[in-house]
Amino acid sequence: MNQPEDSNDSGNPTIGSVVQARLQRRQFLKASVGAVAAGLGPFPLAGCVDDGAHRPRSGPSGDSALGFEAVPKSIADAFVVPPGYTARVLIAVGDPLFDGVAAYRDDGDNPDYARRCGDWHDGMEYFGLSANGRPDPSATDRALLAINHEWVSPAFLHASGPSAPPRPASEVDIETAAMGVTVVEMAKDSQGHFRYLEASPFNRRITTLTEIEISGPLRGHPKLKTRYSPTGTHTRGTINNCGTSRTPWGTLLTGEENWAAFFARDAADADRRSEAENYALARYGRPPGTPQAYQWNTVPDGADPYQRWNTSVTGASQDGHDDYRHEIHGQGYMTEIDPYDPDSVIQKRTALGRFAHEAAAFSRPQAGEPLAVYMGDDSRGEYIYKFVSDAPWDPADAVVENRMAVGAKYLDAGKLYAARFHEDGTGEWLLLSKANPAVTDYDRYPFADDGDVLLHARLAADAAGATRMDRPEWSTVNPDNGDVYITLTNNSGRQIDDEDGAIGVDAANPRAYKDRRQDSGTQSGNVNGHIARLAEDNPSSTRFRWDIYLFGAESDADASLINLSGLTADQDFSGPDCIRFGSGTDICWILTDDNAMTDQSNAMMLAATPGQLGDGSFVELDHGETKIVTPVGAQPGPSELKRFMVGPVDQEITGLAETPDGRVLFVNVQHPGAGSPIAGAAGAEGYTSHWPGNMGYGPGGDLARPRSATVMITKDDGGKIGS
Ligand code: FEO
Ligand code: CA
Ligand code: CA
Ligand code: CA
Repeated sequence: MNQPEDSNDSGNPTIGSVVQARLQRRQFLKASVGAVAAGLGPFPLAGCVDDGAHRPRSGPSGDSALGFEAVPKSIADAFVVPPGYTARVLIAVGDPLFDGVAAYRDDGDNPDYARRCGDWHDGMEYFGLSANGRPDPSATDRALLAINHEWVSPAFLHASGPSAPPRPASEVDIETAAMGVTVVEMAKDSQGHFRYLEASPFNRRITTLTEIEISGPLRGHPKLKTRYSPTGTHTRGTINNCGTSRTPWGTLLTGEENWAAFFARDAADADRRSEAENYALARYGRPPGTPQAYQWNTVPDGADPYQRWNTSVTGASQDGHDDYRHEIHGQGYMTEIDPYDPDSVIQKRTALGRFAHEAAAFSRPQAGEPLAVYMGDDSRGEYIYKFVSDAPWDPADAVVENRMAVGAKYLDAGKLYAARFHEDGTGEWLLLSKANPAVTDYDRYPFADDGDVLLHARLAADAAGATRMDRPEWSTVNPDNGDVYITLTNNSGRQIDDEDGAIGVDAANPRAYKDRRQDSGTQSGNVNGHIARLAEDNPSSTRFRWDIYLFGAESDADASLINLSGLTADQDFSGPDCIRFGSGTDICWILTDDNAMTDQSNAMMLAATPGQLGDGSFVELDHGETKIVTPVGAQPGPSELKRFMVGPVDQEITGLAETPDGRVLFVNVQHPGAGSPIAGAAGAEGYTSHWPGNMGYGPGGDLARPRSATVMITKDDGGKIGS
């Protein structure tokens, strides 16, 4: 979902002082390139000679791991897969999860949403079950699926769309219940196709109101005290659940992303706060006078669960135990859920920092080594983070019965870092702690303690000098070689000045260009996004090497500034978001959340077989006055990147799970028809999408309300997906 904040005014590099020292920098870069090419750089890259020959990694007839016919771009209101594949809907928003809940109706009259599948399906993980219902990661015909629900579509949740504020409690209760997480059991039927089980005892709904524990360094911190939890140990709900991760011990991590938008601040709240508090709240996108995203706090004579969405100072206490001034501090974490135990206590793992958590990717677990967790903060100009556990990995922990205790062992104590990229293809992880003098001496915010550093990780990364990035989204680790991939979805805010050329470009975020849409004007910046790749010697390394694996682009765009990866019409894409190496194949799946290329195609998923860091060359981008040199991965051949599917109208494809044998692949279609008029009174003809009703799922047929849904893809011959 493209709703980034833009609050990073820290003045941090981008990589270097582009504007001040263009010429010097260019000379330095050339020198760096020469040094690296000569093998003199600290982290020599393979084949990184700036000879202008930006070579494909393999010949045109290279090995074909991607044994399917590329799907053309599509703007049809349909879910399109290659010939020989079939897509079926598993579960959609509103489907009942418990006994006694009525079947979903197409008229917006579906009460009791806390007992139905939530809305806006996003990240998703597969948790295998044995025949007798025990955790079994290798199981392929019975499993739990954990699904994030990022936002809601009030236009479709209510009979006639949402009422104007003040919002009625009846509507708000539906919306607050339709977010969070769903855990649902599924099993293969007699035809070998998964079906979800409506009354499984494993089914669970976690909503914006579910009680959750604060764990790690922020448990009991003074800045977590609220009227709900005067001791600062609990909060309610996990909010704006975006990407996910499956931990090596078999639990779910869910990322709380655009949670800031869910808290209103009164205009007068600034006067009741210290300068430091006001600065920190604004840096997290909450200046005074900002409304709640869905106006949930406006329910008249609101009870406590509605009031909590206003995070202003309203009480008389000094410490905040009597109001919700600190309520916003209870969101913004990686939150751990044990899907196998529907009664387990959910924990916010605060040691991983508080920011707009997209997702998380674990380093390959190695006995005796710490675990690293790579994470993106998805707002414009925000950072890439790494958490390193204090505890070294013990393979016995992969099968321990008390999974949440294992989570505490690895995720409640460790070090948090933010990434700084250097122009020469190297980088460093900057420690976010009061042990780092740059953090302790920061003049824009006085960190009270290391808990405060985690609570305000963005400010600590500002202080440490991390590199501002083009909206870091999902990350994934190549199981073969440990390379880390991080999507940078776009930067539509980067300016192109007629005199100075591109503003704010650097080696890791090197593009700024104008793109023309066929249906409207131009858009500028890093319109189509890119995918960065990192490698490091071990999980606790504080240095890394990097290149840019792939640039999103239209296939006919300028090859020297835009289509740097040489994408063809079978490969072009925009807005990379979810990315994940398959568990049962060697394929890296790239899923898009795009608003830029939608005149040509709806959001899609591509299959890739990437090489390795350093398989390409340094490339110079000529922005006029500014020249940028950046390491770019090898251009993908036709058998190394191919479009696998395209979704219906006005949606994003997100979340990816697989059976461990790679023969069933699950993806989510989020917010189809999001471009429809917000007032449902526009009627069914006004909806821009009628999916999945129009493919025969649920009621409504060709005039159905659109629904977020989980889709499973199988190959008709029963083979591995994509191969
Ligand atoms: Fe929720 Fe950044 O996508
Ligand atoms: Ca996105
Ligand atoms: Ca275009
Ligand atoms: Ca996303």
